[in-house]
Parts: sequence; structure tokens; C-alpha cells
Amino acid sequence: MTPWLQAAGWSAALLPLSYAAANPLARRQTSSTTATVNLADQIGTPEHLAAGFLYGIPDTANQVPSYFYTQMGFQGTRAGGSQLPAPARGWVYGENEFQNRFDSALSNYKTARQYDGTFQILVADLWGADGTNHSIPMPGDNGDFSSYDAFLTALIDNINSNDMLPGLIYDLWNEPDGGNFWTASEDQFLQTWGRTHARIKGAFPDLDIIGPSSASQPSSSNTWLTNFYNFVKPNGSIPDIYSWHEETNGDQVDRDVAAQHALESSMGLPNNPININEYGTLQEQQPAATAWYISQLERVGVRGLRGNWASSYSLHDYFAGLLGKPGANTDEDLQEGEATGYWPNSEWLVYQYYNLNMTGERLSTTASGDGSWDVYATYDKSSGRVKMLCGARLTSGTFYITVENLSSLGLPTSGTIDILTYHFDWSNNQFEDNPSPDNQGYYGHSYSGNSLTFYIGATETLAYAFEFSV
Ligand SMILES: *[C@@H]1O[C@H](CO)[C@@H](O)[C@H](O)[C@H]1NC(C)=O
Ligand SMILES: *[C@@H]1O[C@H](CO)[C@@H](O)[C@H](O)[C@H]1NC(C)=O
Ligand SMILES: *[C@@H]1O[C@H](CO)[C@@H](O)[C@H](O)[C@H]1NC(C)=O
Ligand SMILES: *[C@@H]1O[C@H](CO)[C@@H](O)[C@H](O)[C@H]1NC(C)=O
Repeated sequence: MTPWLQAAGWSAALLPLSYAAANPLARRQTSSTTATVNLADQIGTPEHLAAGFLYGIPDTANQVPSYFYTQMGFQGTRAGGSQLPAPARGWVYGENEFQNRFDSALSNYKTARQYDGTFQILVADLWGADGTNHSIPMPGDNGDFSSYDAFLTALIDNINSNDMLPGLIYDLWNEPDGGNFWTASEDQFLQTWGRTHARIKGAFPDLDIIGPSSASQPSSSNTWLTNFYNFVKPNGSIPDIYSWHEETNGDQVDRDVAAQHALESSMGLPNNPININEYGTLQEQQPAATAWYISQLERVGVRGLRGNWASSYSLHDYFAGLLGKPGANTDEDLQEGEATGYWPNSEWLVYQYYNLNMTGERLSTTASGDGSWDVYATYDKSSGRVKMLCGARLTSGTFYITVENLSSLGLPTSGTIDILTYHFDWSNNQFEDNPSPDNQGYYGHSYSGNSLTFYIGATETLAYAFEFSV
């Protein structure tokens, strides 16, 4: 008999052991559907690398009660007044429209700092390039940078006069490789990049510049990106933090991070930190895919911010799809204003569990061979508890978790382990009110060969947490 075993604590858990052992599903276990956790390999203390989001913070201070930030382990945000209406549409509509947009960014900055978070200032939005009007001028149109230079002067003055440097990261432009936020040529973008880098480093030598915040992901065939790196290296303007977005419904964070590292070595670029400053499509903003992103980012040790698919005022609220409040499911262009009465949805509960409950040391894991099922795991010596958070990315089916090297934490090489299961449910409504994950109780799993395997009939939206004591 192979060491794998019975169902995890959901419906199939009620099957008798003998049936489970003979279960044809279990025989189909292959590395393509199995994610692993190695109890013998600890990879560092948790820093909640995935617990940040794009926009989502109201411009009114303290509108969202503090525990929503603290309990999810809030790490930071990225904002610049996007999509606020006149008179706050950004620089290209006039200096006053810039100043009002900047005030939104400043308010979000102060909130981020209140919770020790970082703040990526989204400069494209302060300019006015927020995707709502593709006819606005771009920096350097017709070789003329005079308006842009004046914009940078105003921006530098505002950063100075508001003492905004602690925790600040300068996001030079948003998705310059897509057509929504940058409408001129790549060459014009490179001129803008080089010019801005010199200007900002001249004003603030220690301010980190992040970029290129591309819509596309690193690969040797991404010529937009290789052109960018070929420009910034001799130009002395390599980003302090490399960034790009993972919003394709089919991306693999771990593969793309490996591709970035390969570019760094082949192109002679430094091994600077990486930040995925938008992750997750709208379809992926549910517990299962969020658990998948957490697992991927934690494995490669890369910080990330959730994407945000709201617009107008809703873009400036709800933590990028994690919270609801009365009136939240009405037209997002309506100013729900300073209304409060927030509640968390189940995805926020995933971040809460990730932060509050997955304590101790992170464990090394592997994703399923097909890349669509993943696990994040911790072991806390003080409580003797192993915890695993799992989810499938936009797919359903039978997947497996294999926990290896049980004896490394003092367990026998065979026996029975009682596993507690929690479900993070999803009813396809981002504004649903979910007070807590569903406790599914304990189920005993027998194992042998120093390794325990159990299967999960995973749905496309449910995230699962499993816990056991050693
Ligand atoms: C879009 O931008 C152009 C150029 O600045 C401006 O003339 C036009 O009025 C803007 N359109 C809207 C709907 O704001
Ligand atoms: C970097 O590029 C900008 C824009 O072309 C240019 O103004 C600047 O002089 C360049 N810096 C160096 C060191 O080449
Ligand atoms: C997570 O930890 C908090 C704080 O210790 C605790 O109150 C809560 O019950 C735990 N939740 C779960 C699902 O274990
Ligand atoms: C952990 O388990 C894996 C797979 O069974 C094995 O290859 C590895 O050597 C084990 N590591 C330790 C430290 O026991």
C-alpha cells in the first residue's frame, strides 16, 4: 500500500478508511496534481509578503477600522489619486487638478504609514494617465519635456513639504508596455525613464525607484523588457526594485521570477528585489486563487500587491475587493463617501489566517506539477502546530498534498495524524459578509514511509487550511 491516504476533511472525508484506500481517485495521484510540504526544510520567518493591495484605501483618514489593516498583516499599498473626477484629474488638466490628486495620494500615504506599510507613489496617475482618457499628452511628446519637468518639480516640492520619504517608493510609470497608461512609443518611454531617474535620484538619493511595473512578464522573448534593460544598464538607471504585473489568468509567479533571474544573469543586471505590484485578475480575486498567489509569492520570497478591478470611488475603498459595507453593492461610480460599517469577505479571512495564525517558520513547498494547485505552510515550535493554506488557481478537481519528512519534527515514520480543516467559502460575491472560516473538524489520516498524502476535491473558489500537531 502506498503511503497516500484518505480524503481531507470535506465531503469525501466521511468515506470509511477501507474505501479510501481502494479509492480509484487516489490511484490517480501524480506529481502533476500533488503539492508538497517539506517539514525538514524551514525557509525563514513569515513577513506576509502578499498582504498588500493596489489602491483600496479611502481618502478619509481612519474610515476603515484599524483591525482590518492589522489583522490581515497589511504590508503596503500603491496609489496616486487614480480616476478621481474634476477637479482632481491630474497634471495634464492643470496644476490645481494635480494638487487635488496629490492630496489623495498623501492621505493614502499617511494611512499606509500608520500601519508601518510601504507606499508606492503611482506617478502616472498624478500625471493623469489613469486609463480613462487615451488622448492626454504623454511626457516628451514632440520632444518637449517642459510640462513634464514642471510636473516633476511640483511633485518633488510636495514630497519635500510633506516629509513623505519614510516608507516611500517611487513608481516611475504604470504599465508603460500596455496601451492604457502609456500611449507613446517605447523609445519615448525610455527617454522619460532616464530623465526621471536622474532627476529623482538627484533630489532624493535614497528614494527607491520601482519599475518598469509592466503589464507583461519577464522572459527572454519579451523584447519590450529586454529593450528596457538594455537601455537602463548603460544609462545608470536600473530600478532599485524590479516590478511587473501578474494578471493574465494563466501566469506562474514562480516561473516568471525564475525568468527574471535568468535575464539578470544573462544581461549582467544586479539581483535587486522584486515586487509584483499587481497580482490577480478579477476572476482570481477569490479565496482559492488568493491562497495560490500567497503560496507562489512566499515560495520565491517576493512581495506582491493585489490588483484592483474597481473604478472611480470604489477604487478608493474596500481594500481591493476584500471588504464590504452597507451600500457597497450599488453603482461603484456613486460616492458611497465616508460611510463605514465595514465587514470582511472570505478572502480577507484568508489574509487574516495567513497573518495571525500561520506563525513560526515557513516551510519549503512545491506546487503541483501542473502549476494550478499550491500550498503555503508554516510550523510553529511553540505551539507544535503545522499549518497549510491551499488553493487551486481557476480550476477544480482532485488534488493532493504530500507532507514529507514527518520524523524531522519528531513524529513516527508511520501512524495516524488528526488533521483539522477550515474552509474559506465563496459565493461569488465580493461584498458578502463572512465572519470566520468554516471549521470542518478533525479527520484521522493514516500514513507510512515518513510521508503523509491526502486528497482534496478542490473547487475553483474555495481555499483550504489544514492543521495538525506534532
Ligand atoms: C481627454 O484629454 C484631451 C487632451 O487633454 C482633452 O482635450 C479631452 O477633453 C479629454 N477628454 C475627457 C473626456 O476628459
Ligand atoms: C540617461 O537617459 C536620459 C534620457 O535619455 C539622459 O538624459 C541621461 O543623460 C542618461 N544618463 C546617462 C548617464 O547616460
Ligand atoms: C487565529 O488566531 C487568532 C488569534 O490568536 C485566534 O483568535 C483565532 O481563533 C485563530 N483562528 C483560527 C482559524 O485558528
Ligand atoms: C525530505 O523528504 C524528501 C522526499 O521524501 C527527501 O528527498 C529528503 O531527503 C528529505 N529530507 C530530509 C532532510 O530528510
